[in-house]
Amino acid sequence: MRDPSPRTLLDWYDRHARALPWRVPPGSARRADPYHVWLSEIMLQQTTVAAVGPYFAKFTRLWPMVADLAAAEDAEVMSAWAGLGYYARARNLLKAARVVAGAHGGRFPDTEAGLAELPGIGPYTAAAVAAIAFDRRAVVVDGNVERVMARVRDIRTPLPAAKPEIKAAAAKLTPDVRPGDYAQAVMDLGATICTPRNPACGICPWRDACAGRLSGSAPDLPRKAPK
Ligand code: ADE
Repeated sequence: MRDPSPRTLLDWYDRHARALPWRVPPGSARRADPYHVWLSEIMLQQTTVAAVGPYFAKFTRLWPMVADLAAAEDAEVMSAWAGLGYYARARNLLKAARVVAGAHGGRFPDTEAGLAELPGIGPYTAAAVAAIAFDRRAVVVDGNVERVMARVRDIRTPLPAAKPEIKAAAAKLTPDVRPGDYAQAVMDLGATICTPRNPACGICPWRDACAGRLSGSAPDLPRKAPK
């Protein structure tokens, strides 16, 4: 069994990256806007990519820069958020925008640790923004990544007990080159090929390096402890 190659996944991403409104296509000379990356990641917590699209467009039209959002009335932002749910996210969003626009002069912290100090930014979001916006080598683990890692490494420990093992597997695979694209590639793989049900293993760029596919257990992973 070969190790899954980050390079192979990046090649796949170069050809199949999803076009998402907040994303800069791989190979583009442009850099991702940290404000856009942060805003999208906050919105994507507990909300699907499809549902977030129109909200992301509305927020960036109303408030093109983080300083614009910081200057908005609370009620305006809460009403623009209506429908996304989990309103604590919107309140923290505004708090964080005000910290960035104030104490940080409009620039987002460019490290995982700096980002983690902002309101509403937990370990996942700090890692995702550090990787995607600043190309930092951060280990980004969301539900998609958990599933991909459990399968490629055939991790049969049920969640949540498997989390440390999964995080270690993810850390080992995260490359020094293009860590931001790599993080997005694993998420896209989980969303489009390594799906919860009926994964499309036959067209997966990691098919020859996937321990779960080889053992036949991939479709049943990750296991979940009974509630
Ligand atoms: N889900 C959450 N954040 C994502 C991202 N940056 N790319 C793809 N799917 C995601």
